[in-house]
Amino acid sequence: MNAVALVPAAGRGRRLGAGMPKALVPVAGESLLLRAVRGLLASGCVQHVVVAAPDDGVTLVEDDLAPLGAADAVHVVAGGAERTDSVRIALEAALARVSGVTTVLVHDAARAFTPPSVVRTVVEAVQRGAPAVVPVLPVADTVKQVDVDGAVEHTVDRNALRAVQTPQGFTVTVLREAYEIDGDIATDDAGLVERVGHPVLAVPGHPHALKITTAFDLAIAERVLAPAAS
Ligand code: C5P
Repeated sequence: MNAVALVPAAGRGRRLGAGMPKALVPVAGESLLLRAVRGLLASGCVQHVVVAAPDDGVTLVEDDLAPLGAADAVHVVAGGAERTDSVRIALEAALARVSGVTTVLVHDAARAFTPPSVVRTVVEAVQRGAPAVVPVLPVADTVKQVDVDGAVEHTVDRNALRAVQTPQGFTVTVLREAYEIDGDIATDDAGLVERVGHPVLAVPGHPHALKITTAFDLAIAERVLAPAAS
């Protein structure tokens, strides 16, 4: 059941306006990153986590994660110029440290409240034979395609749509193959896998795995998720 998890957190995105990398923004006294890594380890099926930090922020991130007391299971590396570079670097670091890895998760620190049960569901699906797995939720809103002027072109059948969360799970071979293609743009890792032609399986996600991106999300997390998680 053992998997390794990669958490690319090397961006300097400051959309939450807290004057620090988003992954280090605190929610009720603990950073998004700390909460995300704790959730991965709490699943019981993640043996090792590699976090990619900004190249001048490795110590900062190590200090942030120190309260976990899991120095042997968590390793911080300097990330790269783009997210894809950070994932590649973290993957190679994980494979260098842990032998016999077959399952790799890629998680977003902003999904800090992802329940450990979701992590287990993704790992189990990979280990039952799916080369790539994404946790998803149904789409509640009606979705319309619009042109550049805002005119509605058509209404998309939402029954066929899913909103995708993380962690996304892969066999090592498939993730490596997807990342061999340089310069490709996809909004998630599974998108890269789709492009090289492998099937991607959707499994149930969870509302608590929301991506904490805005001040509103942060407020929800403070009031609803953090009390429940502590
Ligand atoms: O900036 P953006 O929202 O696309 O970043 C998505 C995720 O990728 C963030 O968690 C960010 O920290 C990470 N990232 C990274 N290395 C980079 C750029 C972004 O790990 N060079």
